[in-house]
Amino acid sequence: MKKTPINQQLVDQNIAKLRIDHIGQASIREIVALVNLVEEAGSEKFIRMEMGVPGLPPAQVGTEAEIEALRSGVASKYPMMDGIKPLKQEASRFIKLFMDVDVSPAGCIPTVGSMQGTYAALLVASNVDAKKDTALFIDPGFPVQKQQMLVMGHQYETFDVFNHRGAKLREKLEGFLAKGNINSIIYSNPNNPSWICFTEEELQIIGELANKYDVIVMEDLAYFGMDFRKDLYTPGKPPYQPTVARYTNNYVLFVSSSKIFSYAGQRCGMMIISDSLFNRDYDNLKIRFKSNTFGNAIVLRALYTLSSGTSHSAQYALAAMFKAASDGQFNFINDVKEYSEKAKIMKSIFLKHGFYIVYEKDGDELVGDGFYFTIAYPNMTGEELLANLLYYGVSAITLKNTGSEKEGLRACVSHVQRSQFDDLDKRLEQFATDFPVN
Ligand SMILES: Cc1ncc(COP(=O)(O)O)c(C=O)c1O
Repeated sequence: MKKTPINQQLVDQNIAKLRIDHIGQASIREIVALVNLVEEAGSEKFIRMEMGVPGLPPAQVGTEAEIEALRSGVASKYPMMDGIKPLKQEASRFIKLFMDVDVSPAGCIPTVGSMQGTYAALLVASNVDAKKDTALFIDPGFPVQKQQMLVMGHQYETFDVFNHRGAKLREKLEGFLAKGNINSIIYSNPNNPSWICFTEEELQIIGELANKYDVIVMEDLAYFGMDFRKDLYTPGKPPYQPTVARYTNNYVLFVSSSKIFSYAGQRCGMMIISDSLFNRDYDNLKIRFKSNTFGNAIVLRALYTLSSGTSHSAQYALAAMFKAASDGQFNFINDVKEYSEKAKIMKSIFLKHGFYIVYEKDGDELVGDGFYFTIAYPNMTGEELLANLLYYGVSAITLKNTGSEKEGLRACVSHVQRSQFDDLDKRLEQFATDFPVN
């Protein structure tokens, strides 16, 4: 056995201790627990790329507004179910100025993180039409949303978009939609885990097909504005955050505060429902939820029963962050650019040692540098790569965990410190020496 930076027995013992049968199928939380145990037992720190948590301080404008709201006594009062007025108004304004999309404040609804938003929206969308009992995930994707489907007992289908980019996406999607059982299409853009961003052509295809087959598009914008190839911080001026909302009115957008404002801990995100979908009547919603419109089913049935609203003080924080951004006083995109700069350096270190990027392009353009990137190593499955890299003190999750058909890993840059880049370089150099590519 070759000597590696991390004691191999220590890794193996802890894998056994956590009862992880296949490291390639281990959840993000299992990898986190494993690396914590190994780090506690040994002296070496890992290059931790497994968890997508913000690595920056929270936006100060939010923190200040939240403290002020708490001081003013909001903690004793239940917030309105559909959100406080200033937040609804600022969210609507933010969407107009950074996406050029018009949505009334009524359809801008705070949720306990985007997580709760997708849960509620998937729940209601699964019930709009008795014949449409299946959601369609454009993968790779965020694994927790599939867990939401599992918990609800709802069905979904999925495909890896890797081989179906550009015009090819139409045929692939129609293959599913033509069956008539799909109620919604879900994806994140920029994408977790691959950081691909759909092109305008692809968004147009999704929007047109949503109209043709009457399905709801759920566009998860957890990384809003973070395609750093373009500067998307120009309130009221193009370029805007790309969106399917330009091509269909059947949409729900999810704007999370977790990454763009580094405000994950307060669990407050926004669900943005188009005016026409918000007000649309569905017969089946009357039967299933005793509610008429999509908007009422979301607010007065799903969100009411899940949590009866969203943290009162955090709503003030989010309202203040949206307002400062829209007023041109808070360039939130600049604040998170550090992720892109780190990604550029980390990718170059991986490439130097024989790794390659799995999801590499959007159309003719290379994917941007951002919160995540994907890597693989010749002649190794994703599972083998992860198992081996753990001995070298590098942790990540396998792409298989995200609905990808490709072999490889998702690397998240947020918790890797710049001071660790030298270590990363040395460890990967040793890895490449120990696993030479013929
Ligand atoms: C694609 C995607 N959607 C949603 C979320 C969760 O967002 P929130 O913290 O607002 O619940 C994440 C977090 O990692 C994500 O990557």
